[in-house]
Amino acid sequence: TGYTTIDQGFVNTSSTQSKITYIDGEKGILRYRGYSIEDVATNSTYLEAAFLLIYGNLPTADELGEFDEKIRRHTLLHEDLRRFFDGLPSSAHPMSVLSSAVSALSTYYEESSSVHDREQVEISTIRLLAKLPVIAAYAHKKSLGQAFLYPDNSLSFVDNFLKLNFGTMAEPYEVNPVVSKALDRLLILHEDHEQNASTSTVRLVGSTQANIFSSISAGINALYGPLHGGANEAVLKMLGEIKESGESVEKFVERVKNKEHGVKLMGFGHRVYKNFDPRAKLVKESADEVLTALGVQDPLLDIAKELEAVALADDYFIERKLYPNVDFYTGVIYKAMGFPPRMFTVLFAIGRLPGWIAHWREMNEDTNTKIGRPQQLYIGEPARDWPVR
Ligand code: CMC
Repeated sequence: TGYTTIDQGFVNTSSTQSKITYIDGEKGILRYRGYSIEDVATNSTYLEAAFLLIYGNLPTADELGEFDEKIRRHTLLHEDLRRFFDGLPSSAHPMSVLSSAVSALSTYYEESSSVHDREQVEISTIRLLAKLPVIAAYAHKKSLGQAFLYPDNSLSFVDNFLKLNFGTMAEPYEVNPVVSKALDRLLILHEDHEQNASTSTVRLVGSTQANIFSSISAGINALYGPLHGGANEAVLKMLGEIKESGESVEKFVERVKNKEHGVKLMGFGHRVYKNFDPRAKLVKESADEVLTALGVQDPLLDIAKELEAVALADDYFIERKLYPNVDFYTGVIYKAMGFPPRMFTVLFAIGRLPGWIAHWREMNEDTNTKIGRPQQLYIGEPARDWPVR
């Protein structure tokens, strides 16, 4: 009644104003709070970029030290929450484990339902940043049937995360600095991307004044899908299938173009980028660097490069402005680092967490925020008389 326009998939609807991230999809520009993604990725760390996104400016050395210290102090999970994992099957996808455990976090911090209490928002921010990597590592350990380690707060954010994933109770664990640096950089590249599906989900749920844990748990579920963050896992599956089948890259691309059984070139295409994805450029550089530094030779990287070259020279992809996105090369790197494919989207979630938090807080602080409530165009039955039975 009265609503005549539909914007399927919100391709042309702004749901909010925002000061956090700027994207120019035609020119391939991405900026966090005004700083180019190239600068942030080269000069910053995950935690510094998180501070920038959440609080609006780069931290001073003291501010960053304090932020880091606070996060280190909150890494422990409640012992009961550690046992929460016992109730889940080891076959569970780590993304389902992650969203469930983040949702469960709110049961330990019910005070977080005071969504306009600044102190609560602040402590919840710290708790989320500190605990999500621990939950993620436990999801990984659970799938391997290995004992969970306690966090080691003497280590940096990324090193602690690596130890929780790859350390065991039996042996001391040495962090490989190449892996640590590369993972930090990849996480930075994922930190924010304005109103993507998961961030919009976080904002929509948050607009009901649901607490930040519930809102972010919903965002994790939105990220799980293969058209969004799940694409990194799907890319590796696609590359593996091409290798196993022995099918040529050209043949595979032909099948994509013929839309055979809905087969897509995963890791290609983007709603906003119509020239190139600046994150993909940086990731591709990292892929070569990391694999070389680790002495890994992965035929899947060769297949990915061949796929990219064939697709970029093909009219189908040129006409539709389809380019590799951030997910195209990340999986090959994560694999070289030792992560199983099912952890790839979890890594994306850790990366995106500061962005989700920044958006939830921006939405929550804006006195003009209204509950998100789209309209529809009803195309069902007109009024009907109830049948006499
Ligand atoms: N392979 C083959 N064809 C494609 C692809 C692809 N990856 N992406 C889009 N197209 C085609 C699509 O079929 C359509 O063709 P036609 O005009 O003949 O119907 C045309 O290109 C326009 O695509 P669209 O689906 O209308 O574009 P969208 O903006 O709605 O979707 C997308 C964007 C990212 C969901 C889509 O490109 C896609 O499914 N890509 C593969 C999944 C993927 O890599 N997702 C990660 C996105 S980046 C990181 C993130 O957000 O998580």
